[in-house]
Amino acid sequence: MFSKPLLHEDAQHWLAEMRERRVLVIGDIMIDEWIWGRVSRISPEAPVPVVAVSDHSFTLGGAGNVANNLRALGASVGFAGIVGNDAEGDRVIGMLEKEHVNHDFVLRVDDRPTTRKTRVVAHNQQVVRADWESSAPLRSQDVSDFCKKLAKGISQYDAIVLSDYAKGVFSREIVETALVGKITVADPKPKNIDLFSGVTCVAPNVFEASGATGLDITDDVQLTKAGLSLLERLNCRYVVITLGERGMALFGAEGEHMMIPSVARTVFDVSGAGDTVTAVLTLALAAGAPIISALQLANFSAGAVVEKLGTATATSDEILAFIEEIPGE
Ligand SMILES: Nc1ncnc2c1ncn2[C@@H]1O[C@H](COP(=O)(O)OP(=O)(O)OP(=O)(O)O)[C@@H](O)[C@H]1O
Ligand SMILES: [Mg+2]
Repeated sequence: MFSKPLLHEDAQHWLAEMRERRVLVIGDIMIDEWIWGRVSRISPEAPVPVVAVSDHSFTLGGAGNVANNLRALGASVGFAGIVGNDAEGDRVIGMLEKEHVNHDFVLRVDDRPTTRKTRVVAHNQQVVRADWESSAPLRSQDVSDFCKKLAKGISQYDAIVLSDYAKGVFSREIVETALVGKITVADPKPKNIDLFSGVTCVAPNVFEASGATGLDITDDVQLTKAGLSLLERLNCRYVVITLGERGMALFGAEGEHMMIPSVARTVFDVSGAGDTVTAVLTLALAAGAPIISALQLANFSAGAVVEKLGTATATSDEILAFIEEIPGE
């Protein structure tokens, strides 16, 4: 069954309702560092190109990109995660502050670096990537400090996003601290999926759903099997499987089953589209939108961001303009 199209007036209504809602993002945050330049010679030291740097920039990635997407929609956002006691940790906090994201729940630890991915890009081509990271679980003292911080402030929020990039933030204790009767949406990595049992909605992409269930999702029969099996296994209200260019599939505990086809016109960069889906879906549910409207809005928002370069966000006006331009809407 395919969903009916979302009307422009409905989208406008829900986007207005979404502004000022309070969402807490819990998850693995990272710094994306970009070194831009040109290659004009090979190094005399080793057979590698020498990049003459012309620009150097930083963006928030992972769970930080979900927070950015929520801010672009006017939500009031808090972030809970782990950074190292290092210069990059200061940078994460500075960047959250600049985006007006509350960082009171960020815990700084001294046994791991702040996750950072450094890309060297020459002539618009990535030359190499260097990762600073540890995906070891948190020390038990850090887990209990983190949970204490969370428990203190979580009631201020209308909804919670659990954004898992498998860098060690999540444990069952932390997820349980977040399960306080609010809307909770998890974007899990397959190896951690069982940690998210009991959330309102779990939203893996098709590869993650396949990894978590062991099913080879090559057709709708396998897709349905995977969706229903996750629904039962995780005891959640909804499972949303994002399918890249095919859109997304919804499975609900009350028998809801819906396919939402993608809507992008020109695809430039799909990275981060999953973060946009998680952000919009959570915020729309927090605003009281029915699941189908929330997913359609998330689908349009993802369509708008894949038309931009880099991990991107979309504002309400951009989403509305996009809906107006899609034929048939
Ligand atoms: N090639 C595409 N064409 C049209 N829409 C797309 C395309 N890729 C992604 N989308 C939109 O973005 C949504 C999420 O994409 P996808 O399933 O790739 O998530 P993801 O793999 O979690 O992304 P990421 O991890 O890079 O953030 C899709 O449901 C769809 O709406
Ligand atoms: Mg994803």
